[in-house]
Amino acid sequence: MRESSTKLIYDFHSMFYDATFGRLVKRRIARALSHMNISESDRVLDLGIGTGASLNFYPRRGKVVGVDLSSGMLRECRKKIRENGMDHAVVFQGDALRLPFADSTFDHIFISHVISVVSDPYRLISEAQRVAKPNARIVILNHFQSTNRFIALLEKWLCPLCTRLGWRSDLPLQDLVRRTGVEIDYRYKLESIDLWETVVITNTKSAVTTPQAPLAA
Ligand SMILES: C[S@@+](CC[C@H](N)C(=O)[O-])C[C@H]1O[C@@H](n2cnc3c(N)ncnc32)[C@H](O)[C@@H]1O
Repeated sequence: MRESSTKLIYDFHSMFYDATFGRLVKRRIARALSHMNISESDRVLDLGIGTGASLNFYPRRGKVVGVDLSSGMLRECRKKIRENGMDHAVVFQGDALRLPFADSTFDHIFISHVISVVSDPYRLISEAQRVAKPNARIVILNHFQSTNRFIALLEKWLCPLCTRLGWRSDLPLQDLVRRTGVEIDYRYKLESIDLWETVVITNTKSAVTTPQAPLAA
């Protein structure tokens, strides 16, 4: 996935997202957000907020900041904010891989169905860790590659098709953990057979990989 094509794909999806995938994910999002324990003074970052399927499930306290690449998705999101008087939420267009926030800005981070959409999922996690306060909660909702070898092969085979639709189907959770150093507090699926999983992490700043200084010539 490349951000330039992702933007176009989701501008297109924005026309029917709420009536299709957006409907499917609501229950899962509501449950995932209940793990955040948001208080009055908290700041929450929703990375790749899309059309704002999550907005209804945030308590109307604290501040929610949403970022998304796609102006089409954001148009739908802003409509929800306006029509429902959600003054606690603000969204803007930006790349979650290059966040314009200072280190340790947010108390909670929500990453819902975005990790397998970005070009660099590991960088997305380290950006989330950077802008999250120490011990902030990072909640990830995503489809990860199955640990069943046969299904994993099928997911790999389907990946080129999924990529055209706007996500990859072959991202293993173990790779994400190994390459970012995050420690998972707990994870669960809503149903025993479920394509999506909720992964809850507490931000440990030590897990952020420090960029290597360039070698002297
Ligand atoms: C499958 S949608 C999920 C939307 C929403 N989070 C939800 O769960 O309904 C993926 C979203 O991620 C956004 N996205 C993809 N890459 C991004 C990036 N690098 N920075 C910000 N948003 C991105 C897309 O524009 C799209 O709105």
